[in-house]
Amino acid sequence: MKPLFPEELLADIPPMPALPPAASARIADFLSEMERQAATFVGYPCAQDFDYSEITPLLRYSLNNVGDPFGESIYRQNTFAFEREVVAFFQKHLRAPAGETWGYTTAGGTEGNLYGLYLARELYPNGMVYYSEHTHYSAAKIVRVLGARSIMIRGREDGEIDYDDLRETLKIHRDVPPIILANIGTTMHGAIDDLGKIRAMLKELAIARYYIHADAALSGMILPWVADPQPFGFDAGIDSIAVSGHKFIGSPMPCGVALARRTHVDRVARSVEYVGCMDTTIAGSRNALSPLILWSAIQRRGEAGLRARAVECFSLADRAIAKFKAAGIYAWRHKNSNTVVFPRPGPEVLARWQIAPSRDIAHIITMPHVTRAMIDAVVADVATSLHQPKGT
Ligand SMILES: Cc1ncc(COP(=O)(O)O)c(C=O)c1O
Repeated sequence: MKPLFPEELLADIPPMPALPPAASARIADFLSEMERQAATFVGYPCAQDFDYSEITPLLRYSLNNVGDPFGESIYRQNTFAFEREVVAFFQKHLRAPAGETWGYTTAGGTEGNLYGLYLARELYPNGMVYYSEHTHYSAAKIVRVLGARSIMIRGREDGEIDYDDLRETLKIHRDVPPIILANIGTTMHGAIDDLGKIRAMLKELAIARYYIHADAALSGMILPWVADPQPFGFDAGIDSIAVSGHKFIGSPMPCGVALARRTHVDRVARSVEYVGCMDTTIAGSRNALSPLILWSAIQRRGEAGLRARAVECFSLADRAIAKFKAAGIYAWRHKNSNTVVFPRPGPEVLARWQIAPSRDIAHIITMPHVTRAMIDAVVADVATSLHQPKGT
């Protein structure tokens, strides 16, 4: 039989019913509401300075990146080719030795953390997971999911792990391999655990079998662009790393990239006939649009654009700190971080500016979409709240 053209094969697909007018109006209202919300979006580390409308025509296809992006899948409506380029970009900038790591695009930083700790647990089934009290809440959930043993280590007031507590705790449990979840940018303080110190500690305690996973949700795509980064990548001895894609790079949907040493990944890879490729990822069906979005951001901005964006974020953070200072409020940030920490204001300020507090502190994160006008307004609101006489 003569092969048919795609148009002939697709001719009978029924069109989708039109959106009823009331539903259209609802979407229009929602869009206006999102525009309003965007004007006060200063509390989360998610960039919102993007427009990926080039992918809109692709919303007509059931794209799915099921399986290993480095394999060939029977399911060909995938964006594996783009995903591989995104992974290569992250490998380069997270300083992975050529050919020694593997990676994929995840649903976000949490999945990347789950992936890293899963590989660690497979390598060391009786390993003990250590993480500081400033670690993102996903860590505690992940150790429960994995059924892994874990110990929470004290955190310093500035957000870094308490190295003395880590050393003492490691000493007590020298019989089991440590699996250390190091923060490369904590959620609340933007603090970076010192990988050099942690590795020196392991050496000093003569612990040879260990695993280090780096949670670099935000800072993993900031540190590659700064002149003097704290140790953060594979060159600093990590085994795996999780970075969110919707944070510094920016994406309309949550996404991320997980990278790990290939030898660890090989231990978990299974061949699956149903999709015709290796099952190396946590999720089966995976978002195929997010690799396109990350790829588009990389194409549009390039390394130079991302570097310039990081510089802008720091300069805005310094401006915020100066404004807070002028208002009589002590605010600060870590080196190479755009998380500006200040005393916790009243609930009305937190709600207005979408700010998540923790104990007696709050933060704003000067992401690329945050404007000077937003900073000035938020500082004024915080100052009014903090300078209010108690009890009013
Ligand atoms: C340090 C850190 N790790 C992990 C996560 C989780 O990332 P995601 O929201 O992409 O799952 C976050 C989110 O804010 C974070 O700040």
